[in-house]
Amino acid sequence: MNHHQAITDGPGLRLARPTPVRITEICPRDGFQNIKAFIPTAVKIAIIDRLIAAGARTLEITSMVSPKAIPQMADAADIIDHVSSHHPQVTPVVLVPNLKGAQRAHRQGIRHVSYVVSVSPAHNRANINRTHDESLADLAAIVAEFPDIQVVLTLATAFGCPFIGATSTAVMLSLIDAAVKMGIRGITLCDAIGVANPLQTERVLQAIRAAFPALDIGMHMHNTHGMALANMLVGLALGITRFETANGGLGGCPFAPGAAGNIATEDAVNMFQRMGYQTGYDLGRLIESAKTIQRHIEPNLTGSLVRSRDYREFDFIG
Ligand code: COA
Ligand code: ZN
Repeated sequence: MNHHQAITDGPGLRLARPTPVRITEICPRDGFQNIKAFIPTAVKIAIIDRLIAAGARTLEITSMVSPKAIPQMADAADIIDHVSSHHPQVTPVVLVPNLKGAQRAHRQGIRHVSYVVSVSPAHNRANINRTHDESLADLAAIVAEFPDIQVVLTLATAFGCPFIGATSTAVMLSLIDAAVKMGIRGITLCDAIGVANPLQTERVLQAIRAAFPALDIGMHMHNTHGMALANMLVGLALGITRFETANGGLGGCPFAPGAAGNIATEDAVNMFQRMGYQTGYDLGRLIESAKTIQRHIEPNLTGSLVRSRDYREFDFIG
């Protein structure tokens, strides 16, 4: 059977099945960075262990950023040490904003980084204090210095910016073009403030696909307006199978005022699994992990399943 064969699943919605979806768990980075009070390293590690027990195999475990910018990530080295020594089966990903971040990550054995650049120049300045040219120069330096690191270009504010509103698809395409010329093969589109709508998602994805047919595209959708799953479904229909989600629905960027959490991993897994897609996650364990987050870190989680009956006894998969 051709695993990429498109079949008609419903009126007009063409989904490729049974392709597994690849869900990167990003709660330990995106989720924790937005919590004001310092989360003890032991608590972070306990959550990471639970996420791995729940099936996470690719996790963004921390970021190598300035501890002045994000004090919550000051224990990045300890988190990496723990994951490398206890969980050799997982692929740890670290977010980096500059060459120094990549150097720190590489020194600790990290070989997968998310390199963050905002499509909005104003947000790039607020978040990492750089122009696009400066960000691209550091990306070139990382690629040159560390050919053994797999870099994914993480495009923040891909669908809108808290400072300038609409962001330019043309600017996004030119950033991707520069990165592709450096040898980058993957990007992640981040809706940092969660304002994308499904039609906009379709247009942005089609524009990127048309210009870069071979690019591996991932989606990272915040759920501020409740549209994250709808946008991911549009992505799925267009062949996107890589998604970043955060257990419990934690998440946000301290430099993106008004942003709410990511789509919760358990909610995304629940949708995909009920549709017949394999995710490799154990839903019950993910919900348990979210409840641990609720007890130790944030009582008011926004995810749906952590707050409701899971109706596991209903199996609607056709
Ligand atoms: N990790 C740790 N420290 C770093 C660093 C990194 N990746 N990059 C720079 N620094 C340190 C420098 O060593 C310097 O330290 P010092 O003051 O003790 O000498 C200080 O930070 C300032 O360095 P500079 O290169 O001038 O950076 P900046 O002040 O222009 O800030 C960033 C740029 C990228 C370091 C900072 O804005 C940042 O860390 N942003 C991350 C924001 C973020 O994580 N957002 C959410 C995720 S998208
Ligand atoms: Zn995010």
